[in-house]
Amino acid sequence: MIGILLAAGRGTRMKSETPKVLFEINGQPMCMGPLKALMETCTKVVVVIGYRGAEVKDRIVQEAHKHWDSQTVSQKISFQTQEPPRGTGDAVATALRGLESQMNDNIFLVVNGDLPLVRAKTLQKLILKAKKENSDSLCLSMFTSRPQGLGRIIRSEMGHFLGIREEKDATADEKKINEVNGGIYFFRGSFLSANIKNLKTDNKQNEFYLTDLLGKDKNKSARTDCVSLKYPWDLMGVNNTWELAFARKIAQTRLQKKMSEELGVDFKNPDTIRVTSTTTFEGECSVGPGVVFEGVCKIGPRVVIEGQCLIRDSVIHSDAHILWGSVLENSEVGSKSSVGPLAHLRPGSKTESDVKIGNFVELKKTVMKKGSKAAHLSYLGDAEIGEEANIGCGTITCNYDGFGKHKTVVGKGAFIGSDTQLVAPVVVGENAYVASGTTVTEDVPSGALAIARPDMVIKAGYAKKLA
Ligand code: UD1
Ligand code: MG
Repeated sequence: MIGILLAAGRGTRMKSETPKVLFEINGQPMCMGPLKALMETCTKVVVVIGYRGAEVKDRIVQEAHKHWDSQTVSQKISFQTQEPPRGTGDAVATALRGLESQMNDNIFLVVNGDLPLVRAKTLQKLILKAKKENSDSLCLSMFTSRPQGLGRIIRSEMGHFLGIREEKDATADEKKINEVNGGIYFFRGSFLSANIKNLKTDNKQNEFYLTDLLGKDKNKSARTDCVSLKYPWDLMGVNNTWELAFARKIAQTRLQKKMSEELGVDFKNPDTIRVTSTTTFEGECSVGPGVVFEGVCKIGPRVVIEGQCLIRDSVIHSDAHILWGSVLENSEVGSKSSVGPLAHLRPGSKTESDVKIGNFVELKKTVMKKGSKAAHLSYLGDAEIGEEANIGCGTITCNYDGFGKHKTVVGKGAFIGSDTQLVAPVVVGENAYVASGTTVTEDVPSGALAIARPDMVIKAGYAKKLA
């Protein structure tokens, strides 16, 4: 079985320069939904690209590598360019280029690229029905109270499927029909090769309509039918940004529901939470209101993420606690560590287990080893903080000298007093002690005390003179 994904159109109704199929749903281009369904069902998938084709192709390949190994991606997915896009019929004809010798023994599944909610189980239903009826062509329809813009299903008085009429070509009476074409099709290869070349552009849009291949109206001898689907979300096409917003809602709900039911993830206020399809939970977990996941994230068991956090391309290990308002980017939080409230882990940061990162602490490319702490108001950049070391409030690593970045190393068990500046490159040895207010400009040996601040002077009674 060969899948064909139609992704060459611009999507003018989106009123955007961005190709429609690249608008994101659950953190991935909308065409990844139908691509995944086709990959589960077919032995190979041809993607038809056109408008900004190179960009669409690159993005699809990049996303595909998040779901399948390189061999599967390169062997199973191929691209054909339709230039210019002259309708869905022309798009399928483009996909068939080079497949001429494989037509007769194959079955083709065609899916519009703007159906982000379609699932493999829906394609399976179409295939089962088509095989049972020995169909040449079969499409899926749904009933809707808002059929505007979609192809109407034309049936005889007896209910037999006659054909599909696009909105622009429909009569006033046909426009009242509320059974619409879903944009998913089954074709027997022999039927497709015999008929696709006969498509004409005799319609209002001057396009080759794929829909003209279906129905008794156009093809009297064909075994053709249309079955209506009971779960219409799968057929929800996205043609403008409002439909996109709605599809996002459904896609989020589906994803969160699955994570809840299968793993016990406790989403405190689902409407305000956003997960991506590349977020994985490893078990029971609590996610507070306003938490947003982006990119590829991995969350261990019993992790608690309080509200209003951004977790982007990060890993959080078991029993960690992320407090309100924290931002994690390309970082890793160790088991039983706590981060926040209002902490910022910038790319390349890592805490091992039992680490505490408190409020207003920023880490950048910094490793906090087991049991270390930075509880308040610190900037630690390009640093390595040893096991059980304590970073006092207001500590800053001066990692940038205007030209390059330099490293700070704080040894195991060291104590860095509050309001310390560590001018990198610099090493504070194991169990060393840096007094509050010190600017550390040279290495501190293990076990030593470093202090660099003017002696305090007491002037008795001086306050009166100032009064
Ligand atoms: C299409 C159907 C309509 C159906 C609706 C379901 C046709 C003629 N009409 O209309 O009956 O109700 O889907 O959602 O098929 N594309 C190409 N090349 C082209 C034109 C389009 O690859 O030359 C791709 C688009 O990128 C898109 C898909 O085909 O992913 C569907 O195109 P779109 O313009 O959205 O068709 P609809 O008007 O929605
Ligand atoms: Mg559409």
